[in-house]
Amino acid sequence: MPVWLMRQAGRILPGYRKLRERVKDFKELVKTPALACEATLEPVSLLGVDAAIIFSDILVVPEAMGLDYEMLESKGPLFEKTIQTQKDIDALRIGATENWNYVVDAIKLTKSELNGKVPLIGFAGSPWTIFAYMTEGKGSKTFSVAKRMLYSQPEMAHALLDKITQTTIKYLKDQVNAGAQILQIFDSWGGILSPESYEEFSLPYIAKICDELNSLVPVIAFPKGAYFSAKKIAKINCSVVGLDWTVDPADARSLLPGKSLQGNLDPCVLYADPSVIRSKTRKMLEQFGAKGYIANLGHGVYPDIPMDNVKHFIDTVKQYSVK
Ligand code: CP3
Repeated sequence: MPVWLMRQAGRILPGYRKLRERVKDFKELVKTPALACEATLEPVSLLGVDAAIIFSDILVVPEAMGLDYEMLESKGPLFEKTIQTQKDIDALRIGATENWNYVVDAIKLTKSELNGKVPLIGFAGSPWTIFAYMTEGKGSKTFSVAKRMLYSQPEMAHALLDKITQTTIKYLKDQVNAGAQILQIFDSWGGILSPESYEEFSLPYIAKICDELNSLVPVIAFPKGAYFSAKKIAKINCSVVGLDWTVDPADARSLLPGKSLQGNLDPCVLYADPSVIRSKTRKMLEQFGAKGYIANLGHGVYPDIPMDNVKHFIDTVKQYSVK
């Protein structure tokens, strides 16, 4: 069974930390194709994962639409302006290739460097997750500014979600044309919605993206925390559903028939002793079974997890596969 990790190209790796020292900030890394390529390749050679994920960020999309952001050191993203009114929405553009050329170039370069060794995954945030950053302007515990718009101005919220969706579809098509062989949609903030809101404001837009892309390459939908809507997620046109650690593998198999599954070890298991990492990983593999399964964590690997522990996880999957 194949294995890769969300956030595998990041601060857990020594080469990545060196790369970060060479540039002014995170965005310079994202916007310099040769460096983004280097960051993408490091986990393939150092960790032995079975897929590369292009080094970039979901916030490329709001920036392409005209909403600039800064990535503050150890704090996260900050948007100077946020979207609050219909006028703000009208001022946004639907992004085009010229706005994300650096990602297209990074994918082309990485694809040629990989030379078929492992597949290259492209990605985008879900429209709702991007909406949350565009309206809040930064991370949030409650996302109450974003959610307030859903309840008080639903039509306006849909107008913004629709514009983000149109941009995201163009962006992902460009990634496929540049060489991305799999796509993942990160709905990182799906889980803060109620089932009713999730099914009105997040899932339909992910479904629309899948309808446009899943016939070109397999799409992995990652509805983090939104497993409460599993029966509806089962009906969207994606090939794979990514699961976080709150989901029981056997339940997922029965609620998501016909979907391949990805996940879902709690990243915090990787703080434990190697023996615990190995036993919990093997238990997860047994529960999912080898068919239609991609081993992964239930969310991105945390930057302070020791790289050797990540290797224990990957090696356990590989040893299990050859048995
Ligand atoms: O997975 C990979 O290895 C590919 C690269 C990747 C990054 N971000 C690099 C990154 C991917 C797939 C993402 C997606 C992303 N970005 C998501 C969805 C996944 C998730 O975690 O739920 C989200 C919500 C973002 C937005 C974002 N980017 C935040 C909130 C932050 C700050 C928090 C943090 O982890 O530092 C980032 C920064 C970021 N994106 C880093 C990396 C390697 C750390 C920046 C640094 O090096 O200082």
